[in-house]
Order: sequence, then structure tokens, then C-alpha cells
Amino acid sequence: ASSLDTVAHDILIGNDLGGYTIPTKGLYPYQWNWDSVFVALGFATFDLNRAWRELETLFEGQWTDGMLPHILFRKNDPGYFPGPDVWKTTHEPFPTSGHSQPPVAAIVVRDLYEQSPTPENAARAKALFPKLMAWHRWWATYRDPSGEGSVAIIHPWESGRDNLPDWDEPLSLVDTSGIEAYERKDTTHVDASVRPRKLDYDRYMAILQSGRAVGWDPVKVVENSPFLVADPAITMILLRANRDLLALAASLGIDEAKAEIEGWIARLEKGAASLWNEEVQAFTTKNLRSGVRGAGVSSAAFLAPFAGVGTPDQLAAMRAHFDRIAAKATFTVPSYDPDYPGFEPMRYWRGPIWAVVNYMIARGLAESGDAERSERVRADTERLVALSGFAEYFSPIDGTGAGGRSFSWTAAVWLAWVS
Ligand code: DGY
Repeated sequence: ASSLDTVAHDILIGNDLGGYTIPTKGLYPYQWNWDSVFVALGFATFDLNRAWRELETLFEGQWTDGMLPHILFRKNDPGYFPGPDVWKTTHEPFPTSGHSQPPVAAIVVRDLYEQSPTPENAARAKALFPKLMAWHRWWATYRDPSGEGSVAIIHPWESGRDNLPDWDEPLSLVDTSGIEAYERKDTTHVDASVRPRKLDYDRYMAILQSGRAVGWDPVKVVENSPFLVADPAITMILLRANRDLLALAASLGIDEAKAEIEGWIARLEKGAASLWNEEVQAFTTKNLRSGVRGAGVSSAAFLAPFAGVGTPDQLAAMRAHFDRIAAKATFTVPSYDPDYPGFEPMRYWRGPIWAVVNYMIARGLAESGDAERSERVRADTERLVALSGFAEYFSPIDGTGAGGRSFSWTAAVWLAWVS
């Protein structure tokens, strides 16, 4: 193993707080939803039992309505804002945040099971299966209320791509006149220039307060949120997750789940197709309050092969965007198009590269037969880590690392995919 493998291994061990792993010390001191899932992939390279454990502890945060929250506040840490006293949710035995995050868990549960399909691992996958069903049913029921299949988020944090330029227009419609006084903590840990601006934080707080005001009731949250945006990344990830859940059901012999999952898949295929933006020639967001579509190409556009969506023409347009962006940026895949006027190479989700997004993009490209572009993404990720270590994210222009350091999911996908 290379010395970077050892560093990655030690990061996972160092961020393990006993059955669950934090993304990084200081900036993110709790268990985060999609972080934990990618962390499980990393643990699976050297300790499969610990990988299962990460997913099992994550689902201890699941609400009775099926929602799996984006943060699990197991013990209070005053170094993070907004903490449990701000969210005011009522989950037991520990509080959580009030909305979800990209549903990658079923994808990795299938991976873990197929890595070693023993009776013991079948039992662990079977125990998680109804929880995954309940979570996917929650998305279908509460985040696609029209039944059209394009999955909407009620907060930029729910997308996991918090500060994307595509949220600018919907966020501009959020009234911040009623927000409570608050003090950010993120900018005490990392440089403010790589984090969201104050105006965006004010809007994040206004949306959070709108959910809290209705007691996080899943129907009322959607009605009351000033922000409701269909997200191609969430839609495509959920579609991919449902395909993996269907395959898992088949290998575990859970026949009764088949029809329901197939129904979700058919609906999500239509929903993903409806997010095709003729003008941008890519899958983009759509503001369900104003009807306005995202104005540029984000990394979500390259998840189409991972989700198994896109016509031959749409996939050709995706490859053309990829080649244009790859020629312009030194490293692939930027979270937003470098040719877009609002592109910022170092600011949170407005340009930087995330290793976990690269992993999903490259996996889809490889599965669809595009070994060349898939390898470009992998090799770029390898160069980024070699240059800047296991940072939270990286500049696509010069590879500078930004955000948190010794970052768990960067280390995990290094072990599972890059090295
Ligand atoms: C943040 O940036 O603190 C968000 O909660 C991330 O999920």
C-alpha cells in the first residue's frame, strides 16, 4: 500500500467516534448522512464489519415517517452551527436536523452485500432493507408531491450541494426579514472566502425557521418552505439507488418489494427526463415556485449514466460539455461550469471538485462503456489528493485544497476507488 493509503486509513480511524464517523474535526463534528455512506465504502476496503456498522448507526437517526436526516446530533458540540437547539426536532434517543440529504445508502448496501454475500451479510442487508424502503417511500411521498418524478428539495442543504449557483434565483425569493440573530461557526474553522456568503446563510436560516414553525410535519414543511426546487442530482441518485434496491431485493429473495420499487423507477425516469434543459443542453434544476430553470451546467449533468438516463443525443451533449470543461479546467469535474459567469473555483459548490461526486460520475461513465472519460476523472482525483491531501474539496483550476482537512469521504473514496 502507498503512503497515501495509510494516511487515508488513519483518517477514517481518527474520525471514528465509535460506530459512527464524523466528516472532519471542528467544521463538521457530527454524523452526516451521505458522508457516512461513502465512509462505509472506505471501511469496506479493510473492515467490512465496521462498514456495515456505519450504515446501521446512520439509520438510528431515521424518523418514524421514514425520513433519514442530514445530521445526527448524538452529543452536543458547541463548535457547530446550527445545532440541535436551533433545529428543535423531536427524534429519540438523540436529536437530528429536520431534512434529508442525497439517498446514496441503498447503492452502498448493495455493494457491501455483493462484496461478500455470506448468510451473515445477507442478514445485515435484510435488516436494513425495510429502512431503505421507508426512506425511498418518504422521498416519493413528500418530495414529489405532484407525482411527476422530479424530486424536490426544501433546503439547499438537502441537496448536499449547498451553495450551487442554481440555488441563487430560488434563494433570491426567500424573505429574510424574520430571521433570528445567529452566529456562524463555520468561518471560525475555515476561511470565509471558501464558504457561503452571509446573504446565503440568512436565507438558509429563513428556510430552516419555516420548517421549524410547522414542527417539521412532512406535508406542511413543503407547503411552508419558501424554497422548493427540483434537483437533477437528487432525482438521479434516487433513481440509481432504486435500481440497486431492486437488484438487492432480488438477490435477498424479497419479492414483495418488487412492484413498489419498479413503480418508483418508472416515475423517476420520467422525472429525470423532465429536467432536460434544451437551452443549456443539460439536466438542470427547476424552481417549482417560479418555474425558472438552472442557468448552467453543474456536476449533476454528468450523473446521467450513473442513473441510466438520457437519450443518445442528450448523452452526446453531455460528452461535449465534459470535453469543453475538461479542456478549460486543469482538473475534472468542477461542481459548476467554469464558463459560467458566477463560477468561483474555491467557493463551496460554486466551482470546486468533490471526490465523492467524481466517484459517482466516473462509475456511471465506466458502466456505460466510456472508459476514457472515467479514467480521466479518476486520474484527476488521484493528482488532486497527491497535490493537496485529503481536503474536503479542490480548485479545478490549480488543485488547491479547501474546506475541512483530513476529510473522511475524500479518504474513503481514495481507498475504495482512486488508489
Ligand atoms: C453546513 O455547511 O453546515 C451544512 O449543514 C452542511 O450539510
